[in-house]
Amino acid sequence: MYEWLNALPKAELHLHLEGSLEPELLFALAERNKVALPWADVETLRKAYAFNNLQEFLDLYYQGAGVLRTEQDFYDLTWAYLERCKAQNVIHTEPFFDPQTHTDRGIPFEVVLTGICQALEDGREQLGISSGLILSFLRHLSEEEAQKTLDQALPFRDAFIAVGLDSSEKGHPPSKFQRVFDRARAEGFLAVAHAGEEGPPEYIWEALDLLKIERIDHGVRAVEDERLMQRIIDEQIPLTVCPLSNIKLCVFDHMRHHNILEMLERGVKVTVNSDDPAYFGGYVTENFAALHEHLGMTQEQARRLAQNSLDARLVK
Ligand code: ADE
Ligand code: ZN
Repeated sequence: MYEWLNALPKAELHLHLEGSLEPELLFALAERNKVALPWADVETLRKAYAFNNLQEFLDLYYQGAGVLRTEQDFYDLTWAYLERCKAQNVIHTEPFFDPQTHTDRGIPFEVVLTGICQALEDGREQLGISSGLILSFLRHLSEEEAQKTLDQALPFRDAFIAVGLDSSEKGHPPSKFQRVFDRARAEGFLAVAHAGEEGPPEYIWEALDLLKIERIDHGVRAVEDERLMQRIIDEQIPLTVCPLSNIKLCVFDHMRHHNILEMLERGVKVTVNSDDPAYFGGYVTENFAALHEHLGMTQEQARRLAQNSLDARLVK
């Protein structure tokens, strides 16, 4: 089944490039950039990948991203991810990056963007993988900081297809960024947002009604609100679900309790994604394989999930 799932053509619509930084590359970049690390070796770092919630993960994820400094680093990070895509027949990807994670450390916006975009271009030419980049705002930071980040992005508008919203969800509702998203959409960007991962269904309503998003990232808590479920089904709003992430971050206590197939069977346009594969134990195929192993996902269901991912692309 793993080989069959791996060969299935699919798109990945929820992937943080910083979350694809494997420990081996993290250590190599730390050495290249003379960054001191608090972990003795790769094994010790991997052992630290045990989280009780989103925030515990984010603390480590931002710390890990501290080794990324030069254009070449961002190129290498993105290229390593694209090679994984190639190996798993991911034919299209729409990755996120978090510029503020880097600009707040003094790395110029342009350095980050140029490295990522060069790799995406080479991925299109050399690997045949199409892509569209999503600039994600950090929701634990202020509206004003998000506005500044949008200002920095405008001279490079052709490099992006959309803006997104990620980081610590609880206490940072989508409404906090309504004006930023209004401006981004007026400038021609599409919009997506993380909502209903740890946060309540109300955050999903806000993301839809105030941020006017095309897709909901995660959205698994929508099942708590029947009226919301009906809207998501009626309007066929895609959900970019990340099964292994949800288990690692204790959104569900076990994969056998995950609701993705239940949503699929109710007619929700759910897709399978890896979120932060270096931290959560696998890329897209491993996420599909976990659904087969623990939820009995059939080949017919896998085909529908993969088709949903191709249908839900922002760049067609
Ligand atoms: N940033 C990286 N991964 C994330 C996730 N799963 N939720 C929110 N922000 C993130
Ligand atoms: Zn995410």
